[in-house]
Amino acid sequence: MKITVVGAGNVGATCADVLATREIANEIVLVDIKEGLAEGKALDIWQKAPINQYDSRTIGSTNDYSKSAGSDVVVITSGLPRKPGMSRDDLIGTNAGIVKSVTENVVKHSPEAVIIIVSNPLDVMTYQAHLTSKFPRTRVMGMAGILDTARYRAFLAEALNISPKEIHAVLLGGHGDTMVPLPRYTTVAGIPVTELIAKDKLDAIIERTKKGGGELVKLMGTSAWYAPGAAAAQMAEAIVKDQKRIFPVCVKLDGEYGINDCYLGVPVVLGKKGIEKIIELDLNTEEKAMLETSRQHVKEVMEVLEKLG
Ligand code: NAI
Ligand code: 2OP
Repeated sequence: MKITVVGAGNVGATCADVLATREIANEIVLVDIKEGLAEGKALDIWQKAPINQYDSRTIGSTNDYSKSAGSDVVVITSGLPRKPGMSRDDLIGTNAGIVKSVTENVVKHSPEAVIIIVSNPLDVMTYQAHLTSKFPRTRVMGMAGILDTARYRAFLAEALNISPKEIHAVLLGGHGDTMVPLPRYTTVAGIPVTELIAKDKLDAIIERTKKGGGELVKLMGTSAWYAPGAAAAQMAEAIVKDQKRIFPVCVKLDGEYGINDCYLGVPVVLGKKGIEKIIELDLNTEEKAMLETSRQHVKEVMEVLEKLG
């Protein structure tokens, strides 16, 4: 199996490191536009192999996509990250051009690949990659839901003083402040979370989750990378190992949840064909209203992309 990660910055290099360390593919190619950066980071990850005991081969390339040829999965992380005071949507002008040119190279060299977008604004960059690649929607998806639910699960684990391994959660909608965490579908070892935590505490955790990316930007002056890199690697793993795992993933909706022509996070089954099934939850009135708010927000940013041409 071969996985390419485009963008050897914070998220891309972390993703490649997780892929190698966990031997998710035997060949991992890191590509960046900055001369020598991908080669250097790939070499560093390879030199860690004898210490951490793995044999996935990591190769770097400065914008030479021939090295990525025939990849089964391509993770696109190239693009500007947020600075304090910026929203994810402020990145659209620069990142749309980057995602478009990278996707053209991916299509040329890996026409059968499954593409996982990480670059922000996530839902609309997934739209950009889908437009450019003309791949079926099952092979173009965005990573955000695993990260957002991981933040929610980590905050819950801390509040309940319980292992994060025990906490399962689903989240819908766009990657931003309009995301829709679903307490009704949050369980702790099978027990509904609402039986274990007071409503006001759960509401505070949900609000913190919605602003989880911004909290880290404020602390570090740039956006997060350990959890995002690991989340993208987890999606790639489910695909190359045909695991049929269920994750919240950004995908184009064609009628599911009563929504058409919009890219939003929903629970899906991930396997070797990419998105093998979209799971439709029976939402209550309040959840439907929150999803509609999220849809409207993503749609507005999609229209900005369309105006950019
Ligand atoms: P970074 O600045 O550390 O790395 C970005 C890399 O992309 C740089 O090394 C840059 O040289 C490279 N790059 C730029 N143009 C390129 C091109 N045309 N071809 C190849 N490489 C190119 O940024 P970081 O922190 O890794 O974030 C990357 C993106 O991921 C940002 O847009 C950020 O907002 C987004 N992000 C998304 C998350 C999500 O949940 N979906 C979570 C965290 C970050
Ligand atoms: C995050 O949520 C900025 O999208 C990035 O950390």
